[in-house]
Amino acid sequence: METGVLDNPTNHICFEADASIKSILYTKEELDSAVANLGKKISNDYKGKELIVVCVLKGSVIFFSDLIRNISCDCKIDFIGASSYGCETQSSGVIRMYKDLDLDIKDKHVLIVEDILDTAKTMDYLIHMLKGKKPAGLKICTLLDKKARREVDVSADYKCFDVANEFVVGYGLDFNEEYRNLPYIGILKEEKYN
Ligand code: IMP
Repeated sequence: METGVLDNPTNHICFEADASIKSILYTKEELDSAVANLGKKISNDYKGKELIVVCVLKGSVIFFSDLIRNISCDCKIDFIGASSYGCETQSSGVIRMYKDLDLDIKDKHVLIVEDILDTAKTMDYLIHMLKGKKPAGLKICTLLDKKARREVDVSADYKCFDVANEFVVGYGLDFNEEYRNLPYIGILKEEKYN
């Protein structure tokens, strides 16, 4: 795709990174609408409960910031830093945790917000780690679910979209720390990582 010839007419800004995208999977408008619906569902389910929404850095930060503005019940937010990818498109399986929570989640309802469930090793690790802090409940919310690559038995309680086994970027998702600022989710051209 050439810069400036995006086939999404509602995306008025042309990003340099557009040229690295093979095709758009979800437009900004589709993301906005899915996130608003998810926010409504979460608001209903957690009404009257002490909710802490946890953002898994860095990939879910855009999704997370949109999602919490669609959650109408009272909630607190926190951030956890974990990653399983280096510069590759394949999970290393080794989870590196570089930031723990600041809040005490004991007896609180925790909703972990992830960008994408791939092998789900990262989420499996986080679940075990956070369960040790004795929350009243622990649920998983993911923007994308790449089920074909699942290696551990973890499933999302809330999700926006299923995706096929392709490497996607944008709306917070990166390759080698790039493309997070794209307002849509697109499939990265293979020549960018091969
Ligand atoms: P998992 O532990 O294999 O589930 O890996 C989850 C993490 O891998 C996500 O939080 C992402 O940061 C990254 N990841 C997996 N698939 C993709 C992708 O298609 N694009 C960008 N990042 C991805």
